Amino acid sequence: MILKEALHQASKTLASVSTEDATLEAELLVMHLLGIDRAQLYCRLEEELPPGDVHTLNQLLERRLGHEPIAYIIGRREFFGNDFYVAPGVLIPRAESELLVEKALDFVFSDSARGSEKTLLSNEKPSVLEKFEKIADIGTGCGAIAISLALLLPQARIYATDISPRALEIATINCDRHRVRDRVHLLEGDLLDPLPEPVDIIIANPPYIKDADLSQLSPEIRMFEPLSALAGGEDGLDKVRQLLGQARGKLRPGGLVLAEIAADQGEAAASWARELLPHARVELAKDLGGWDRVLIAKLLDMY
Ligand SMILES: C[S@@+](CC[C@H](N)C(=O)[O-])C[C@H]1O[C@@H](n2cnc3c(N)ncnc32)[C@H](O)[C@@H]1O
Repeated sequence: MILKEALHQASKTLASVSTEDATLEAELLVMHLLGIDRAQLYCRLEEELPPGDVHTLNQLLERRLGHEPIAYIIGRREFFGNDFYVAPGVLIPRAESELLVEKALDFVFSDSARGSEKTLLSNEKPSVLEKFEKIADIGTGCGAIAISLALLLPQARIYATDISPRALEIATINCDRHRVRDRVHLLEGDLLDPLPEPVDIIIANPPYIKDADLSQLSPEIRMFEPLSALAGGEDGLDKVRQLLGQARGKLRPGGLVLAEIAADQGEAAASWARELLPHARVELAKDLGGWDRVLIAKLLDMY
């Protein structure tokens, strides 16, 4: 069988389970099988696929038909333009969480601009990078958010916490792969507890699925992704409330909390933030679909 036929058959087989795009998933499986990129795949479409590879491809397809997520099968997922190793036991990073990274960068660069004006007027040493050098990614999973920020903000010191040793094992592999092990400090523990010092930005994609909704999740998520990365209690906001409650002692003056939430949690999350961080300006940021996606709470400069 030539590669083009193998791709066609794989994509037909995957159409029964693929919630995304069966053609794309078929390409990802064949690229993974042969260890090649998409450009190489398209150049080799007329080549014969050896029987051993056909057999292995069928085994990969079987796994996918059993609802195993494609990212676990091929061992990787792209996030913010970088490739991350993922494996069972860690949440697969989602595209919607990229908004957290964008909002953190907005904050760093807008405050940096104000910092430079101040510096020019007062003739002080530049303070911008000092001010924004400390960031904490809480519940880091495979490390996608922390590492994306480390790659974009080479001056930043980043703490990344998780309660799951397995997640931290995978985050370590990703830190090594992206050569940021010296700047991303991985810490095991409950939310903000392991932080050794106050930070400028707390960023988190906490578990936020309501208990009642867990059984409605797709089999890919329900059967394969870790429950501890998903379950957020009765209203889904248990971890958000806990994080906001701890944030006061762990944020520097003028610091920022960014937490991902579900589309229907915006008002409730904002009202908890106003109660638990009374000296913060609270906002909600929407995703591309127009849904509330990120809770933003910015402490006033004197708090
Ligand atoms: C929704 S996942 C997010 C993973 C990663 N940040 C991402 O966006 O792909 C939530 C993560 O929080 C971790 N977690 C759950 N409860 C925690 C707690 N109490 N303290 C620290 N981390 C926790 C889970 O192990 C999981 O890795």
